[in-house]
Amino acid sequence: MDTPALSRRDLLKVSLLGAAAVALPWHPGPSPQGTSRLAASKLPRPYTVPFAAPPVLRPIASDATTDWYRITQTPFVGEVLPGVATPLWGYNGMVPGPTIKARQGRQTVVRQVNQLPATHPTLGYVPWTSTHLHGMPAKPQFDGYASDVSQPGEWKDYVYPNSGAARTLWYHDHGVHHTAENVYMGLAAQYHLTDPQEEQLPIPKGRYDLPLILSDVSFAEDGSLLWDDHGHTGVLGDVVLVNGRPWPTLPVEQRRYRFRVLNASVSRGYALELSTGQPMQVIATDGGLMAAPQSVQRLRVGTAERYEVVVDFSSLGVGATVQLRNAGVPGAPADAGTGEVVQFEVTGPATSTEGNEVPDALGNPAAMAVSPASARVTRTMRLDRRRGLWTINGETWDDVVASGFTRVFADPAVGDVEIWEVENRSRGWSHPLHTHLVDFQVLSRNGAPPPAQELGAKDTVYVAEGEVVRLLVQFGPEHGRYMIHCHNVAHEDHDMMIQYQVGPYDAASDPITAAPPRSGPETPLGPPG
Ligand code: C2O
Ligand code: CU
Ligand code: CU
Repeated sequence: MDTPALSRRDLLKVSLLGAAAVALPWHPGPSPQGTSRLAASKLPRPYTVPFAAPPVLRPIASDATTDWYRITQTPFVGEVLPGVATPLWGYNGMVPGPTIKARQGRQTVVRQVNQLPATHPTLGYVPWTSTHLHGMPAKPQFDGYASDVSQPGEWKDYVYPNSGAARTLWYHDHGVHHTAENVYMGLAAQYHLTDPQEEQLPIPKGRYDLPLILSDVSFAEDGSLLWDDHGHTGVLGDVVLVNGRPWPTLPVEQRRYRFRVLNASVSRGYALELSTGQPMQVIATDGGLMAAPQSVQRLRVGTAERYEVVVDFSSLGVGATVQLRNAGVPGAPADAGTGEVVQFEVTGPATSTEGNEVPDALGNPAAMAVSPASARVTRTMRLDRRRGLWTINGETWDDVVASGFTRVFADPAVGDVEIWEVENRSRGWSHPLHTHLVDFQVLSRNGAPPPAQELGAKDTVYVAEGEVVRLLVQFGPEHGRYMIHCHNVAHEDHDMMIQYQVGPYDAASDPITAAPPRSGPETPLGPPG
């Protein structure tokens, strides 16, 4: 069955007919926002809940080269809304999961133990998982390949080289066809990588360096999370969570703070602004520190994008409050609830002035040093809706599966440079496109230079309705098969995901068979011997 093509005028007519719209299998306009069915009195007023950051995870063992961690994927009952019990799934039983801190050149091994129930409590599917560390060039068998799943009761050790530049990464579930539900249930967390260059910069660190993990949810009558992906188009909640808390307030001192903004929402994009109208200084993008800070009034953050921003509270009086608000993006408009994000409340003078600067020179991201003249090939990716599925060049992950995982979009050698032109032809939806393994440079948007916030290395790029974005990509350092997909994870699951292959294929780096999950008693975790 083909998707009916409706013009905007047709749509308008249909919506004027009211009930007729309900009969449509799919409508190309923005998805309606989920509305919590809980009594309104159970929702806190924005900025009444205290801010909190996830705890930093301690390694189980360490030696000269490696740190070992153990994480369980666990069901638990949390209190997202004050006084309301909400069943969630969390890494180590918390949402978001604990932050892992790593240092360039030291390897990390994370054991992920799937302790989820045999089926999802309301949706009924089997919660197999695959854990992806987004932003890390891991070998294919440790990259959270969607079809490399661990079933409930199984465990797997993921090895991360920490080879790249300092950056904000995140780990999240990537299990085939259920990534969106699993992430919505809470399987997401940050991972911070440092390097000597970042350590030497006088930028805010320690208690002045905080994650802002954004997500949006809605609630059923009984306090559980309400799931509606509107025919696989997207999940938009009516409550914005920051680090798992609804519209929190953070006490701040009169100085600069660094916020590691991560959009961990299933589908929602944000356009963030400070209520005072003051600018934010973007110091890092997905791929780490920018060459120079970029001052922005409004920061657009599509799903999976990371931006580190510095906000200066030094000129505000004690007791002043500043709200970080969401102006909304096409397809995900903001209303009274989703327009509010987090509040900062100035409590007093700085108790430390260390790391209170934003130097003019920050980093030198490798992806930004690549010259477009070195590109050998230009490839085109069309993001589209066909026959009720989201596709890339008409293909889906099921096509990859049907090929025995051999079908690839591109097959560059390690070190090759290519231009990838990404075109969004679907009406009403943006597609934040993510390439595993690599960082890239955004060359242009609709033929124009990218905006200031995109002048750094990226691994996820927001491609709005009707846009054409050109990316410059150099492949490596690892080889093998890696996914490319839309990071509106409702689209990814149905089924906007393909793969590419860098260098030769070898069985030793097969994403599914090279390091399969295990069941039964766990082996000891730590240095051999
Ligand atoms: Cu953050 Cu393939 O995903
Ligand atoms: Cu990734
Ligand atoms: Cu999409």
